Amino acid sequence: MPKDKPFSQACENNKTPILEKLSGLFKQPGTILEIGTGTGQHAVHFASHLPHLTWQPTDHPQNVQLCSAWIDDSNLPNINQPIALDVVHGDWLRLPAINGAFSANTAHIMAWHEVEAMFRAIGKALPVEGLFCLYGPFNYGGKFTSASNERFDAHLRQSNSAMGIRDMAELERIGGESGLSLKSDLEMPANNRLLVWTVTR
Ligand SMILES: C[S@@+](CC[C@H](N)C(=O)[O-])C[C@H]1O[C@@H](n2cnc3c(N)ncnc32)[C@H](O)[C@@H]1O
Repeated sequence: MPKDKPFSQACENNKTPILEKLSGLFKQPGTILEIGTGTGQHAVHFASHLPHLTWQPTDHPQNVQLCSAWIDDSNLPNINQPIALDVVHGDWLRLPAINGAFSANTAHIMAWHEVEAMFRAIGKALPVEGLFCLYGPFNYGGKFTSASNERFDAHLRQSNSAMGIRDMAELERIGGESGLSLKSDLEMPANNRLLVWTVTR
């Protein structure tokens, strides 16, 4: 592993199980928009194993450069240069046309109004029947699914009160308002889920 690349152990751990699900979901050729790409490990792993897709990484303007080393090093023909995109203030209309969307570990980092903005914009940007796959930890009926998620949530809220693990009921509510309905809720390792939303407008 070259030293100059940012590295997330969590991405190394979860990239294989996520890819397993994405390969069954994003079956048709097309462009997948990634929100909050982070280090770029996911983008490179998924683009290299799903050559029928064009992967479009994006991240908040403050973090968008983070993924460049992984992307440039990969030399993959099906991964675009990252685009700076703040889900609230970003210019969604200038993005390439997309067929699907993916985001990992963003809903508990973004403030709630940012999560709402992400859903609203993705609901508009995706074509009918397009999929939005959202990976991360989520709560059900106000309850944590594990003690480790509860500790993680406390840690997040302590560092920034706007962060925190989101509840499925609230996500389904904003999904409904954004033209996105929950198609599947897939169990993933380490008390995470892959939520698959589809456009129903
Ligand atoms: C915990 S990191 C997850 C990174 C990567 N997806 C992963 O799973 O390792 C959260 C990401 O959300 C991004 N993010 C936070 N607020 C955002 C916003 N308003 N618009 C776009 N991205 C945002 C951050 O820049 C960061 O890359």
